[in-house]
Amino acid sequence: MKFFIDTANLEQIKEAQALGVLDGVTTNPSLMAKEGITGKANILKHYKDICALVEGDVSAEVIATDYATMISEGEELAALHPQIVVKLPMIKDGIKACKYFSDKGIRTNVTLVFSAGQALLAAKAGATYVSPFLGRLDDISTDGMHLISEIRLIYDNYNFSTQILSASVRNTMHVINCAKIGSDVMTGPLSAISGLLKHPLTDSGLAQFLADYQKGN
Ligand code: E4P
Repeated sequence: MKFFIDTANLEQIKEAQALGVLDGVTTNPSLMAKEGITGKANILKHYKDICALVEGDVSAEVIATDYATMISEGEELAALHPQIVVKLPMIKDGIKACKYFSDKGIRTNVTLVFSAGQALLAAKAGATYVSPFLGRLDDISTDGMHLISEIRLIYDNYNFSTQILSASVRNTMHVINCAKIGSDVMTGPLSAISGLLKHPLTDSGLAQFLADYQKGN
């Protein structure tokens, strides 16, 4: 399973990259605003800065909600850097734009997916990635992980090449369950990645090993 970090924070991206397990980055307009990145020129520059830090795919989201403007925005984003994947919302014009970009060989990530039907449409339109929002479904007392398993079943039934990018991952158990279900990618905060390192028996075991070594020296 590929690990993407879901942030526009350059320090956190650097930290995940330094761990050696990072495969890409996802962003969205809210994550950009959280880092104080506003205005088109600054946002485009920030995408390039992120691409310079990592080797994998970097999702950059269009703001438009109509087909024609989505196409021009998406083409501008894709031209920024070969690592850019154009992120499109799961709406009618987003699906039409997804088909347009996939026919042109431009990679896409269909975002804000909350049902198996939406994921099926995104795959039919040739999406490179589909982003079901696991955590936001859990937030409203719906089983987000069940949606991931439904999409896995449908994509496997028909050998769709669209990759399941489990998004809105919030914690380490989400990461582990995504891996068990066979999600192709997960995107989450740095804490969900670095949290996988931790186990109290690792810490106490290491402390004991070091103490025993000292006794013999
Ligand atoms: C996906 O690409 C989104 O950026 C993201 O995962 C949303 O996560 P949130 O629900 O924690 O905001």
